[in-house]
Amino acid sequence: MRHLAILGSTGSIGTATLAVVAAHPERLRVVALAAGRNRDLLKAQCEAYRPRCVSVSSQVDADWLRGELSYRPELHWGPEGLLACALHPDADTVVAAIVGSAGLASTEAALRGGRRVCLANKESLVVGGALMHEAALAGGGELLPVDSEHAALHQLLADRDPATIREVRITASGGPFRDWPLARIQAATVAEALNHPTWKMGPKITIDSATLMNKGLEVIEASVLFGLTPDQVAVTVHPQSQVHAMVGFHDGSYHLQACANDMKLPIQYCLLYPEKLPGPVPAYPWDQPATWTFEAPDLLRFPCLGLAFAALRAGGTAPAILNAANEVAVAAFLEGRIGFWDIQACNSEALAHLPVAPVGSLLQVLDADRAARSHAEGWVQTRT
Ligand SMILES: NC(=O)c1ccc[n+]([C@@H]2O[C@H](COP(=O)([O-])OP(=O)(O)OC[C@H]3O[C@@H](n4cnc5c(N)ncnc54)[C@H](OP(=O)(O)O)[C@@H]3O)[C@@H](O)[C@H]2O)c1
Repeated sequence: MRHLAILGSTGSIGTATLAVVAAHPERLRVVALAAGRNRDLLKAQCEAYRPRCVSVSSQVDADWLRGELSYRPELHWGPEGLLACALHPDADTVVAAIVGSAGLASTEAALRGGRRVCLANKESLVVGGALMHEAALAGGGELLPVDSEHAALHQLLADRDPATIREVRITASGGPFRDWPLARIQAATVAEALNHPTWKMGPKITIDSATLMNKGLEVIEASVLFGLTPDQVAVTVHPQSQVHAMVGFHDGSYHLQACANDMKLPIQYCLLYPEKLPGPVPAYPWDQPATWTFEAPDLLRFPCLGLAFAALRAGGTAPAILNAANEVAVAAFLEGRIGFWDIQACNSEALAHLPVAPVGSLLQVLDADRAARSHAEGWVQTRT
């Protein structure tokens, strides 16, 4: 039996995780739930799964929950609440499904605390880099990637001799603007950018998918997770989102991983690893005719992908700077303060102007994150 703390339980990954839990009640039990502001959904989740430990963003919402719930769990709030859930003594597995670098400290603490971390929060790997491996090594934690591409690579690379591997390729759906000409992309609206063709996700990652910054963050994530050089990670656009990753060997052959584009699959892979049990997702219907296509990404129309490769090559705090600027820019775009094309401009500007330092500690990356946020916010204000 695995005992779970789910951080970000009210989000797209959090609710998909609870669906996997519901499919395996004999294997998975919820011990802690943490969310942000969606207290009504969190209340319903608490009544359904009765976690012993619960956290929300504010004390006001924690007090509200205390009055509403039909039982009395430990109630916490804010960043300390996330840590209380991540390090709850009864939890052996943490699902890190908060969006953005707000998930960094709890991911690091869970790894240092010896937990299995099922990591959806790619931003914490992008920002924290090798520090996450160090935390796992120091505390005996285990890092398993929930991102479908990285869960695919985890399976493809298992027990492989690294010397045999030439490159890995992660696939990208191409997002809603894959076929659009540059001028139309530049003028895209929020509604158009939120209209993802194949995945239903939270708003931040959906915008990141429209700019291909999500794929860029995943390139950095793959490099950090699997110890690959920037030249060993590539992106292939595959609009059907059925092949999730490929490993290319020196002899010219490739191994591919394919499954339905449903996040419950990689979530279940991480939760139950190394077991592969029947779950809530049907197997791929191979007997139905289908066409799968593959093409190269266009870095002129999707410059954020190129920026991510540049940050990965620069190393040190560059990925943290890019990630922070992007979080500010995406929030500003969703609030209608800047245009779609301004996202890449803001990211490019932050990467070009902020100093990059080698990464020595978590405090140092948090400082780089703060400085980049403030710089990007200043840039956004010049546009509004
Ligand atoms: N969605 C996908 O298919 C997918 C696939 C691969 C990877 N990911 C990654 O998974 C992460 C989550 O994505 P998502 O799509 O699930 O996002 P989402 O739907 O926006 O959910 C985000 C979750 O984080 C919570 N949250 C946000 N800020 C918080 C804070 N400061 N303290 C506590 N809780 C906070 C939210 O709570 P409230 O809603 O209650 O405010 C919500 O539960 C992201 O890093 C994303 O890149 C997602």
